[in-house]
Amino acid sequence: MNIVKKVAIIGAGNLGSQIAALSCKGGFCVEVFDVSESAIEKSKKALQISSIKYCSKRDELSKDCDLIIETVFENMRVKRNVLSWVDKYFTNSNVVICSNSSEFLPSSLCKKMQRKNRFCSYHFHSPSTHADIVDIMLHKKTDSDVPEVLTQFTKNIGLVPFVIKKEHKGYVFNTIFNEVIAQSISLAVQGIAKPEEIDRCWMVNTKMSIGPFGMIDLVGLDTVEDIMYNLLPKKPLNVFAIRYFKKYTKQNYLGKKTGQGFYTYPDPKFETKSFLE
Ligand SMILES: NC(=O)c1ccc[n+]([C@@H]2O[C@H](COP(=O)([O-])OP(=O)(O)OC[C@H]3O[C@@H](n4cnc5c(N)ncnc54)[C@H](O)[C@@H]3O)[C@@H](O)[C@H]2O)c1
Repeated sequence: MNIVKKVAIIGAGNLGSQIAALSCKGGFCVEVFDVSESAIEKSKKALQISSIKYCSKRDELSKDCDLIIETVFENMRVKRNVLSWVDKYFTNSNVVICSNSSEFLPSSLCKKMQRKNRFCSYHFHSPSTHADIVDIMLHKKTDSDVPEVLTQFTKNIGLVPFVIKKEHKGYVFNTIFNEVIAQSISLAVQGIAKPEEIDRCWMVNTKMSIGPFGMIDLVGLDTVEDIMYNLLPKKPLNVFAIRYFKKYTKQNYLGKKTGQGFYTYPDPKFETKSFLE
C-alpha cells in the first residue's frame, strides 16, 4: 500500500493553502504548484511556513510525490487538463491522485486520465481547520486501496474521513447545506428578509456561530456563484439569484478573502454579541 510521505497540491488558492498547512502540520513533505505568481505570494504570506516548497513551473515539482491533491478553480475543462498532465507527470505506480472539487463527479473529472483507478474525489470543507469532515468519494474504477490511503492520511492530519462509495453530486453534507443556501438566497432575492436577518434567525435557532450568508462569505462568493451555475435548475428565481450574486462579485466583494462580502472583515457583524440580541 502507498505510504504517503510527499504531497503535491495543485492550486495555491483558498483551499490549496489550507490543505498545505494541515499536511505540513501532520508531518508530511509538501509541494504546492500554481500558475499564478500572485496566488503563490499570497499563500506564502498567509501561511508563513518555510518548509513548504512552492513551484510556479510544473517541472519544479518532485516526480515521486505519493499523493496529489488538485485544488484549482471549479471549472471542468481546467480540472480535466490539470488531471491529465498530473497523471502523466508523477511516476509512483501507487500514486493517489484526487480532486477537491465541490460539485463535479470523479468519473467525469478523470475522463482524460489513463490511471483512472488511482483517482477519486477528496473534498475538504472550508475552513478546513474548523470543518472536520473530509469526503472521500469513489467512482466505479477506483482501486480498493485508495480510500484506505486517504483515510489514513486524513487521520494523520487531524481530520475525520467520510467515505462515500457511490457517486453523488454535492456529497452528503453539501447536498443538505446547498438547499439551505439556495433557500436563504431565495428569501433575500424576494425581499422577504435581509441577509443579516436570515443569518440571525438561523443562528438563534440552531445555536450555530455562523449563518448561511456568513458561510457564503467564508467559502467565497465567486465559488458559490460557480456552484449555483452548475447546480441550480434554470428557473426564473434562480436566474434572479445569480444576478443578485453578480452585484457583489462584480465589485470584488468575494467574502472574507477580499475583506468584503455580505459582511466586512476582519470583524464581521455576526460575530458581535449584540447580533443575536
Ligand atoms: N472555497 C471553498 O470553501 C471550497 C470548499 C470546498 C472545496 N472547494 C473546491 O476547491 C477548489 C479550489 O477552490 P478555492 O476556493 O481554493 O479557489 P481559489 O480561487 O481560491 O484557488 C484556485 C487556484 O487555482 C489556481 N489555478 C487555476 N488554474 C490552474 C492551473 N491550471 N494549474 C495550477 N493552478 C491553477 C489559481 O491560480 C488559484 O490560485 C474548487 O474545486 C472548489 O470547488 C472550495
